[in-house]
Amino acid sequence: MSDSTTRRILVTSALPYANGPIHIGHLVEYIQTDIWVRFQKLRGHECYYLCADDAHGTPIMLRAEQDGLTPEQLIERVWHEHRTDFADFLIEFDNYYSTHSPENRHYAELIYRRLNEAGHISRRVITQAYDPEKQMFLPDRFIKGECPRCGAPDQYGDSCENCGATYSPTDLKNPRSVISGATPITKESLHFFFKLGDFETMLKQWIVSGPIQSRMANKLDEWFSAGLQEWDISRDAPYWGFEIPDAPGKYFYVWLDAPIGYMASFQNYCDRTGLDFNDFWKEDSTAEVHHFIGKDIAYFHILFWPAELTGAGFRKPTAVNCHGFLTVDGQKMSKSRGTFIKARTYLQHLRPEYLRYYFATKLSDGIDDLDLNFEDFMQRVNSDLVGKLVNIASRSAGFITRRFNGRLADTLAEPALYADFVAAGDSIAQAYEGREFGRAMREIMALADRANQYIDEKKPWVLAKQLDTAPEVQAVCGMGLNLFRVLMLYLKPVLPGVAVEVEHFLQIPPLRWNDLPKPLLGHAIAEFKPLMQRIEQAQIAAMIEDSKENYPTTDGAAVSAPRPLLADDPIAPTITIEEFAKIDLRVARIVTAEAVTGADKLVRLELDLGGETRQVFAGIKSAYAPEDLQGRLTVVAANLAPRKMRFGLSEGMILAAGDGNGIYLLAPDSGAEPGMRVK
Ligand code: MSP
Ligand code: ZN
Repeated sequence: MSDSTTRRILVTSALPYANGPIHIGHLVEYIQTDIWVRFQKLRGHECYYLCADDAHGTPIMLRAEQDGLTPEQLIERVWHEHRTDFADFLIEFDNYYSTHSPENRHYAELIYRRLNEAGHISRRVITQAYDPEKQMFLPDRFIKGECPRCGAPDQYGDSCENCGATYSPTDLKNPRSVISGATPITKESLHFFFKLGDFETMLKQWIVSGPIQSRMANKLDEWFSAGLQEWDISRDAPYWGFEIPDAPGKYFYVWLDAPIGYMASFQNYCDRTGLDFNDFWKEDSTAEVHHFIGKDIAYFHILFWPAELTGAGFRKPTAVNCHGFLTVDGQKMSKSRGTFIKARTYLQHLRPEYLRYYFATKLSDGIDDLDLNFEDFMQRVNSDLVGKLVNIASRSAGFITRRFNGRLADTLAEPALYADFVAAGDSIAQAYEGREFGRAMREIMALADRANQYIDEKKPWVLAKQLDTAPEVQAVCGMGLNLFRVLMLYLKPVLPGVAVEVEHFLQIPPLRWNDLPKPLLGHAIAEFKPLMQRIEQAQIAAMIEDSKENYPTTDGAAVSAPRPLLADDPIAPTITIEEFAKIDLRVARIVTAEAVTGADKLVRLELDLGGETRQVFAGIKSAYAPEDLQGRLTVVAANLAPRKMRFGLSEGMILAAGDGNGIYLLAPDSGAEPGMRVK
């Protein structure tokens, strides 16, 4: 049954960055949140689901520049894409907004002003890496160079992927700006800091009220022990964001105004609907605010965010619910393996509800990563949804339509069984409420097994052939359809589209949790149409094929895994055929290959380019033993400017594909000769 009192609940998912497409990893979160919200609405609570694009920051600024767009144009385009992707996955926001909005500017300024007036903002000059060519300060991720410890080339400004050393960007040897290639200089600038330490006591008290999972509470304790640092909330121009009031040329760091976007989206919704913003956000509000986020952004949501809110006189979140990360077939999503699957690509091959159901079976209230295994995915969906659930309806409906003019029996054949199904609702509701969706799905499927068992025992298809059994056939099939209706109600948060089709089929108004105790008796239904098809192996194979992208990965001397530089989905800008023709790609034979002492990743290659010999250093040692490379053909970018490395001169670049997990050398088809031009 529904709870007796109506709760007022505001729910958010993290705001996706406005520089890349929604992928199935993101969808874990939006599907999880959507299921929870739909459950609350089904129970009759007043619940609002808000989200927005996270539209500010350096990566978005540079990405727009790369694409030849203004940031406004880029975020406008991406906003539409995100909205349609979400809608097509049946993720139903009450409002989907943008952090680049007047409401967000208003609340960012308001919160900043209040924090400042209360003495929670400090100012001091810091020294940072600066790109003299591009004339901008460089975040650590935008500087690369050789590791100060092991000498590995091509390492980021904060840590070495080769030896694990951590350091500051100024320690890198031969550092260069990822944006312009220039050597960074250091430069001073005034920055603004949020004094997080002022809120330590408050945060410790807040945790006691149980707003976060126990594992996150432990994490928080670690952060307390390490000491709460002041948080740098300002960035210098050029920056894409909101300028800080009374501080020309200084901008709010994107993570300052991003969570405030939750409020902005709600304010925008209130203005459209007449709801009262303060009812939900004032300090002593009794309404609930639940944030759903990935564990990677917990720091911002369980430290900074409650502190900012408190410092500015707003309420704290009721709950911050963290989830784990999605892996595919046990590994990080990978472009080369075709497992970096965009929401749109998925939709071109499969129904959204399959993934919604599969994620539901995998989700719990924990923060462990979850795996999408395609074999398991196909089997779960086919066996549970098609084999069990839909089967109940398809086995019962035909007789009702053909023999009884679509009319269900006037009484329930097995009231006790129906009562059992209704009684199971309490435990299922508890599981949904506690985000134990996996448990909810198992309990629902156990009921589906019982419904099928019931039909198996009664055998309406045998009864139907005997004489004078009409009332019994009608009763059995009516019972089957009533059990099916209860199951569909329980699954409605997960399978909203199927639920609507079933409501049409049963000719009933939208199902609500309150409808549980009242079976459909003496009621006319429509003709049954197949509700769901089995997933075929070929559909999955085609989706993976569509998701494969070619990723040439070598950089000067070293093949490095293409880590996202600017966005989580970097797409190179379009170039003209003339630009492409500038690259002199040649077939080369690897004549000699040997390990390089002092560099774990590198092999030194001597290449035969058809008469001409070149030395190239390539970072492929993790994937190839030097002796296995000798004699092989590959492709080399031959007109790349030679680069002086610690170990010698590198005169070109060999091509390989890679995604952070593996490296795959490109090779021409048999018959190609060293020196041949690749076009
Ligand atoms: N813009 C920030 C969030 C700001 S919230 C005020 C951000 N954006 S994101 O696009 O990178 O991620 C959005 C959400 O998707 C995050 O909660 C993140 O944890 C989640 N996920 C992104 N990739 C994911 C997986 N592979 N698996 C599960 N969740 C993932 O962070
Ligand atoms: Zn190193």
